[in-house]
Amino acid sequence: MTTRSPHVRLPEAIGVLGGGVMGAGIAHAFLVSGCLVQVVERDEEQRVAASARVLRSAAASVERGSTTESLDALAGRLAVGTDDAAFAGCGLVIEAVPEVAELKIESLVRIRVVAPGAIIASNTSSISIDELGAALDDASRFLGLHFFNPVPASKLVEVVRGAATSQQTLDAAQDWVAGIGKRAVTVRDAPGFASSRLGVALGLEAIRMLEHGVASAQDIDAAMELGYRHPVGPLKLTDIVGLDVRLGIAEYLHEKLGERFAPPQLLRDKVAAGELGRKSGRGFYEWPEAGA
Ligand SMILES: NC(=O)c1ccc[n+]([C@@H]2O[C@H](COP(=O)([O-])OP(=O)(O)OC[C@H]3O[C@@H](n4cnc5c(N)ncnc54)[C@H](O)[C@@H]3O)[C@@H](O)[C@H]2O)c1
Repeated sequence: MTTRSPHVRLPEAIGVLGGGVMGAGIAHAFLVSGCLVQVVERDEEQRVAASARVLRSAAASVERGSTTESLDALAGRLAVGTDDAAFAGCGLVIEAVPEVAELKIESLVRIRVVAPGAIIASNTSSISIDELGAALDDASRFLGLHFFNPVPASKLVEVVRGAATSQQTLDAAQDWVAGIGKRAVTVRDAPGFASSRLGVALGLEAIRMLEHGVASAQDIDAAMELGYRHPVGPLKLTDIVGLDVRLGIAEYLHEKLGERFAPPQLLRDKVAAGELGRKSGRGFYEWPEAGA
């Protein structure tokens, strides 16, 4: 069972804009921690899909015994709609729409209009919190809450402090992360935050080693798994995340932090060939069951 901090007072109601892979996971995390959860999607079709995603995770928690509540009780605290007005009264609203800066800025402004009293967070994995916060009149109550996929299994949330984020906002967010049983790491707004920057640096070096024939993919991964106790080697992890996703982050970090993040040619070639990792059936490894 997840260890939640019993001393933390979570907001009574929280909102999530965008109920995709991450939004549904975030909604689930607060739902099983006792909050009322309002998810807002862009249209009816997505609303139905988002609702099914959250309820599937909730049912899995009930089945695993990681919550003592019934599925009905959990479902009774969940509302999935298409109207932003549902966010009125939420103490925290997290946007989890796709990683497109303009879409995120438009979403944050929408949230601020309907929930002026809320702390607002972005689940962005790479966009600058200061750049997003500039769209808000008052960015003191805005910060990054970067959850990891799959949210129910991941213990980590990067709490990203922007230049304008107040101490009070930061303290509340750190407490709430503990309150849902996860570990907050606090990072100043900087390209790639902590996790992507370090993870991508290791992944790119592993790809360069493969490119230069230093060792096989299996041996490079085994070196990190057995030598450094990484649960998954850097190349297999790149396959799981998606080579295209990693290339996108590497290009961004290259632009912001310089040559050490220049994407290796092998990564570019594989993405161009459609070898995107697990989701396409082939990356640095073969994934026969997943590519279909
Ligand atoms: N997938 C991951 O592994 C991962 C990990 C960490 C962070 N993130 C970040 O989380 C965010 C969401 O990623 P995801 O993987 O969940 O994407 P996703 O495509 O699965 O979900 C995005 C959801 O947003 C909805 N949406 C789009 N426009 C909307 C709008 N205008 N109003 C309301 N809803 C809207 C879509 O219908 C969709 O359900 C991105 O910023 C991504 O970088 C993703």
